[in-house]
Amino acid sequence: CGRYSLNNFWLINMKFIDFEAIDSTNTYLKHNHNNLEDFTFVSAKYQSKGRGRGSRVWKSENGTNLLFSLLIKEESLINKFKDISIISAYSLIQVLEEKYHISDLSIKWPNDIYYKDNKICGILLEAVTTDKIDCLIVGIGLNVNQKTFDNDLKHPASSVSLILNRDIEIAELKQSIYEQLAFNLQKLKQDEDFYDNIVKYDYLKNKEVYADIDNEVKKIKVVGINRDYSLRIEDGNEFRDLFTGEISFHL
Ligand code: BTN
Repeated sequence: CGRYSLNNFWLINMKFIDFEAIDSTNTYLKHNHNNLEDFTFVSAKYQSKGRGRGSRVWKSENGTNLLFSLLIKEESLINKFKDISIISAYSLIQVLEEKYHISDLSIKWPNDIYYKDNKICGILLEAVTTDKIDCLIVGIGLNVNQKTFDNDLKHPASSVSLILNRDIEIAELKQSIYEQLAFNLQKLKQDEDFYDNIVKYDYLKNKEVYADIDNEVKKIKVVGINRDYSLRIEDGNEFRDLFTGEISFHL
């Protein structure tokens, strides 16, 4: 599943909304999805209430990073929600590797992007549900031109500009990421299997880590990402498969 090619683009009807500032692009889509079309991308230069996973805040300097959310309304993709956040992470890696020639990137399960041992991107996948899932919101925060980060972050952070030692044109990067993401999600809709590509980027594979499981911090060994994108771990003599959101890691 290589890079997108323009020939495939007539298939996807993408819409774009760009804010200077907003509370959170995910929250915006949560409140407005009824009036917006499938595949609407919402970006902002600044978020006053950016949200991360596990009720954490997502702080980002004004105008220096890529902050956006994608609205997914089509049922065939909603049904594949388990694949979407990790395929989104993989889509960003493809762009960063192929267009910006960055290596040493990996996916820390379930969907963070790491450069060496530093986090450069976080993804917050949310579902809006009534009696069924009405839509999915994929929120992505990629550190692009920010150079300094709070010391109190849960995981040490880096950014594309720190990796490349130069500033990046955010609009151009954003366009490439939107296109790669739309292309891959189109492929996912057609049942393309991304597993073999994704599993190569498994950051936690074979690592011994401390994990919060069942409200207890335990030392466990990670076996690796399974075909259904759950995570196999070895806890004592027992193997267990974990699903998104159940644990967080302290390395
Ligand atoms: C995480 O690693 O905890 C996920 C962070 C997700 C941040 C992005 S920034 C754009 C979108 N809007 C939000 O409020 N959060 C996501």
